[in-house]
Amino acid sequence: MIENISVIGTGYLGATHAACMAELGYNVLGVDIDPEKIDSLSRGELPFHEPGLPELIRKHVDSGRLRFTTDLETVGAWGDVHFIAVGTPQQAGGTGADMTFVDAATASLARAITKDALIVGKSTVPVGTARRLAKLVEEESAPDVRVTLAWNPEFLREGFAVKDTISPDRLVVGTADPADEAILRDVYSDALGRDTPWINTDFETAELVKVAANAFLATKISFINAFSEVTEAVGGNITTLADAIGHDTRIGRKFLNAGVGFGGGCLPKDIRALQTRVGELGLDHTMRFLDEMDQINLRRRDRVVNLAENILSGDLTGKRIAVLGVAFKPLSDDVRDSPGLDVAVRLFSAGADVAVYDPEGNRNAAKRFPRLGYVDSMTEAVTNADLVVLTTEWNEFKGLVPADLESLVAQKQFIDARNVLDAAQWEGAGWRFAQLGRHFVDA
Ligand code: UDX
Repeated sequence: MIENISVIGTGYLGATHAACMAELGYNVLGVDIDPEKIDSLSRGELPFHEPGLPELIRKHVDSGRLRFTTDLETVGAWGDVHFIAVGTPQQAGGTGADMTFVDAATASLARAITKDALIVGKSTVPVGTARRLAKLVEEESAPDVRVTLAWNPEFLREGFAVKDTISPDRLVVGTADPADEAILRDVYSDALGRDTPWINTDFETAELVKVAANAFLATKISFINAFSEVTEAVGGNITTLADAIGHDTRIGRKFLNAGVGFGGGCLPKDIRALQTRVGELGLDHTMRFLDEMDQINLRRRDRVVNLAENILSGDLTGKRIAVLGVAFKPLSDDVRDSPGLDVAVRLFSAGADVAVYDPEGNRNAAKRFPRLGYVDSMTEAVTNADLVVLTTEWNEFKGLVPADLESLVAQKQFIDARNVLDAAQWEGAGWRFAQLGRHFVDA
């Protein structure tokens, strides 16, 4: 009977997983080496924005089911199942995944364990990691305890992290021993709906499922964005094109929204890490298309900057530009590899007076690029703007109509870099209005 679950690493993934495991009825210890993080989580405070998560953490901190600690020794003597949820960032100065944290956490945990336990990796890792770590666990754990390893990749989306963890659309586990699969089935029994697919496989497949899913999603977005380049040149409507091909159920409409492209802490780094890993395996050619996907994605940001330059007659010096959205997507305050923030910084570097507004992302953006002008409301951002650029499709921006801005802006000029507004309505109201994937007469 599994009662005690630990989660090593209390960042985005770990904090969510810990809270959700408590919600499923387990006693949970969240572990981190950062005492400040542990202090604030123990008070029920989160260092990032995720709908519903602070409430869930407070609920279970209050119920006593969820606690946080920096003390791995206690955890090793207490836990039945230990989830590893530490980060695998892009290597500094490289494109591969930095495995320092996963390796260190697994080795220290294995040394700290004093009762039979299962270690479960959740981090996104290069294929081959689980097999290597299973060996490490065997070497580092005490001879009188049975400590094994399983791999259970996480597919949660920011903004929907709680729902994706408590009611996942599938669960994938890589195990080397049927007993470990049985433990994980037990752990997740209350999260499994009657029809939730349960996929038990080997380590390598489990690791690859995660990176394949992300590579596929990135490819889908870049595919439609590549067609954007064509419709920009010849005319045509990229959204109608996406709708039309999306009706084919083999293709599907999701993740075919053309715009300024993908960002965030996962897709960009994961496709680069995958390419690097297959390169190490002597298979560079196999995933070469991912390099193209990355390039298409980055070219979308160039396109927005070029449109801005064209609309403002080639010189951005002193021009006031409102950038609406620096979180990499709505419902998030995450600005890692954010297309909107990248565009804002490039406009600023070209001499523009940039006013940035994001409902949640300003604080994180200001930590990275303090010199941009951050404002507290959309109204403030667009006041006296020569150009408004919509880069993240928050609801607040999706509902905009020309009359909302007309009395505020200096010039009626707009780039909708997420294709969420009705171009005919804005053009009808006399705006110079550009979208991505749409032919723009002035540029
Ligand atoms: C992603 C995966 O979806 C998730 O399964 C994995 O666990 C982590 O990586 P996330 O980073 O939260 O999740 O964001 P996601 O919703 O996938 O969006 C990624 C980026 O793609 C965002 O910048 C978004 O704006 C962009 N995007 C998405 C598009 O440009 N067009 C689309 O049609 C969909």
